Amino acid sequence: MAAVLGCRVRHRVLPMSRAVSPGFASIVSVLIQKRNTHHVVIPAGKGGRSSFSGIVATVFGASGFLGRYVVNRLGRIGSQVVIPYRCDPYDVNHLRPMGDLGQLTFLEWDPRDKDSTRRAVGCSNVVINLVGREWETHNFRFDDVHVKIPQDIAHASKEAGVEKLIHVSHLNADIKSISKLLRTKAVGEMAVREEFPDSIIIKPSEIFGREDKFLNYFSQMRWFGRAIPLISMGKKTVKQPVYVVDVAKAIVSAIKDPDSSGKTYVTVGPHRYLLHDLVEYVYAVMHRPFISYPLPRPLYHLAAKLFELNPFDKWTSRDKVDRLHITDMKYTDLPGLEDLGIIPTPIEQKAIEVLRRHRRYRWYSADVEHAKPATPVNY
Ligand SMILES: NC(=O)c1ccc[n+]([C@@H]2O[C@H](COP(=O)([O-])OP(=O)(O)OC[C@H]3O[C@@H](n4cnc5c(N)ncnc54)[C@H](OP(=O)(O)O)[C@@H]3O)[C@@H](O)[C@H]2O)c1
Repeated sequence: MAAVLGCRVRHRVLPMSRAVSPGFASIVSVLIQKRNTHHVVIPAGKGGRSSFSGIVATVFGASGFLGRYVVNRLGRIGSQVVIPYRCDPYDVNHLRPMGDLGQLTFLEWDPRDKDSTRRAVGCSNVVINLVGREWETHNFRFDDVHVKIPQDIAHASKEAGVEKLIHVSHLNADIKSISKLLRTKAVGEMAVREEFPDSIIIKPSEIFGREDKFLNYFSQMRWFGRAIPLISMGKKTVKQPVYVVDVAKAIVSAIKDPDSSGKTYVTVGPHRYLLHDLVEYVYAVMHRPFISYPLPRPLYHLAAKLFELNPFDKWTSRDKVDRLHITDMKYTDLPGLEDLGIIPTPIEQKAIEVLRRHRRYRWYSADVEHAKPATPVNY
């Protein structure tokens, strides 16, 4: 891997800009020495945070939910991580302790500027794309976020001779989906494969974890009334949520696996549940009463439209309502977590991590065993 990095460097000198931080400058200075392999990128050490894994990875979308787990997983095996960001530098500060001193490089990034994307991938042998958005904005439509940006990243990665490109899509990405997000995710997968045929596509189901927008979303629904609206009472939707750490582990395993190039991995949890049973379980863990009622889709859309008027973070949207009520697809022919050596974590084991903060003080430290687990289904 390091050799590849060295080879690539022999014929390219990267432009330095004001956006390049001192850490990044050190990587650049390594690369312009025209050596086949610099000692800094030769795997070394016992495999911990202070060793070097040989991986120099650019992680787009690192400021998001999954991003922090991916950067941490890369940091703990001693990788150099380039973190392109477009937000306030303070918003990515929480990532700083995840790598050893000098191993994380923060880089201002403008997704519309192809040079900026080129600069971000230019020194890496691995590129991971986690960019995604649950709602459209005036500046970035779903097509921009899920097709155009991934395509530009894939193009720049191919041009730069990146060894592995990992693109995170969605389990239910489908060109015929009722959700625009899922339709654009499907087009994004094709666009990435067109630019970078050996790219690795990861298809996670709804991801749960402390900062998620799945378990937290259903638990926050109680703010708007005592009863929870679900289309068809959630009895026609089957979900197979996956733990965030498992997805992050899958990404790192796919980097290490020599046979992963060009494959599509499905990352799902070990069990499938009716959405109704799952939300009931969420409320049982929270020690709060669960009352659900069936809300027809048009009325649900009407309510969601009000939330879409929020100019900032949209708590929900019509697209999200549709997405949450789509049954998770089953791909029996595609490799999954087990093929990457990961045993999927059951939701019953980790839900408490997410939901404890939604409990009343009285129940704050009550045992989770009091909550009866949801019954898995076979379809
Ligand atoms: N969470 C899930 O349940 C789930 C399930 C299946 C698939 N996925 C996919 O997994 C990936 C990561 O998900 P996540 O939950 O970590 O998402 P997230 O928390 O919403 O983070 C999304 C990341 O994308 C960046 N981003 C969004 N729009 C952008 C734009 N126009 N230009 C540049 N950067 C932009 C965000 O940067 P800013 O912070 O600057 O906005 C952020 O770093 C996404 O592709 C998502 O679709 C997620």
